[in-house]
Amino acid sequence: MFRLTEEHEAVREAARQFAQNELKPGVIERDSKMLYPYEQVRRMAELGFLGMMTSPEYGGGGMDTLSYVIAMEEISKVDNSCSVIMSVNNSLVCWGLETYGTEEQKRKYLTKLATGEWIGAFCLSEPEAGSDATSQRTTAIDLGDYYLLNGTKNWITNGGTSQVHLVMAQTHPEKGHHGINAFIVETSWPGVVIGAKEDKLGIRASDTHTIMYNDVKVPKENRIGEDGFGFKFAMNTLNGGRIGIAAQALGIAAGAYELALDYAKQRQAFGKPIAQHQAIAFKLADMATEIEAARLMVYRAAWLKDQGLDYAQAAAMAKLFASEVAMRQTVEAVQIHGGYGYVKEYHVERLMRDAKITQIYEGTSEVQRIVISRGVLNGNLYLPTFW
Ligand code: CAA
Repeated sequence: MFRLTEEHEAVREAARQFAQNELKPGVIERDSKMLYPYEQVRRMAELGFLGMMTSPEYGGGGMDTLSYVIAMEEISKVDNSCSVIMSVNNSLVCWGLETYGTEEQKRKYLTKLATGEWIGAFCLSEPEAGSDATSQRTTAIDLGDYYLLNGTKNWITNGGTSQVHLVMAQTHPEKGHHGINAFIVETSWPGVVIGAKEDKLGIRASDTHTIMYNDVKVPKENRIGEDGFGFKFAMNTLNGGRIGIAAQALGIAAGAYELALDYAKQRQAFGKPIAQHQAIAFKLADMATEIEAARLMVYRAAWLKDQGLDYAQAAAMAKLFASEVAMRQTVEAVQIHGGYGYVKEYHVERLMRDAKITQIYEGTSEVQRIVISRGVLNGNLYLPTFW
């Protein structure tokens, strides 16, 4: 657990090279002009970053979760618009379909999504159902051969650039969350309307939309799992998604730290590099310590998932802690850079803006605390006995 394999190190090196050589050059312009990274997403597909954990028989890389979080960490040091596209496609869409889809669904959809030929989106949040995900208002009425889907989803990552949406909708409102189903919806179908694109604080090059479903006919065979399984599908899938976002937060913190360390070694003040001043050296020490703690939590959550052990609380803890570290340490990185940190050219202000979303999406920090506290109170928090 404390030493990564050569394969893991090779994944890190490949992701690092890609991020530094191919993502970094245009990242400031894409962020400031909200330019969707079409070419970079195509390259992520080519390099196998969009279906890392999916089995090779469905076009994926067949790698473990640890490999995926390592790649997420390196890519998130540089470009979080790309890493959120990667995260949603890998953890929420491909993993959800491979784990719960039928063979036919996997052949039809997963093979395209895991190779990056198609991109997927995960449509749970609604204008009035964010953290309170059980209060879905989108409906899917069973009309025999098909479901009729109506409703509005918002904050949908990949909303306008995806070919497939996994949509959660209420089929039996009287059953509460047991009445929710999850559906595979093709965005080319009549009635799927891509609404406004959000102009965001961070991850600005990623594509976040409101989506309307107006009388969309969804074939029966596109329901995922048994009737009423949709809420469980969303929760189970989000548990893994939270590991991906925790890795994104880790990457943001580590990326800002690396930039701050380089800058502090070069920048002279009062006759020596600022890193030699205790005020800065102690900041760097605190940053390194917190980031290492976050890294261990993220890797452990990934490892638990790879071992087939319960990882819901570990994932929530990793996301909660890593996202708070990302927020805190990107602020420190800007401070170490002084005035230079406040301008786009030095990259840390962007990482500071990107950090905030990791405390909000795939469950706010408050939602993570709900998940963790329930684990604590029920006594089912999985704590390994080996340390
Ligand atoms: N893992 C597995 N099952 C879970 C679960 C978890 N983490 N959390 C809840 N459940 C199960 C419960 O066990 C329960 O199952 P049973 O009915 O079989 O007992 C069922 O779900 C309902 O649970 P609760 O009664 O606890 O439900 P609740 O209404 O109190 O809410 C909640 C629980 C944890 C707050 C949940 O609503 C939640 O996670 N909300 C946040 C939703 C979220 O993360 N949205 C993110 C949107 S996706 C996104 O951001 C993607 C993107 O584009 C980047």
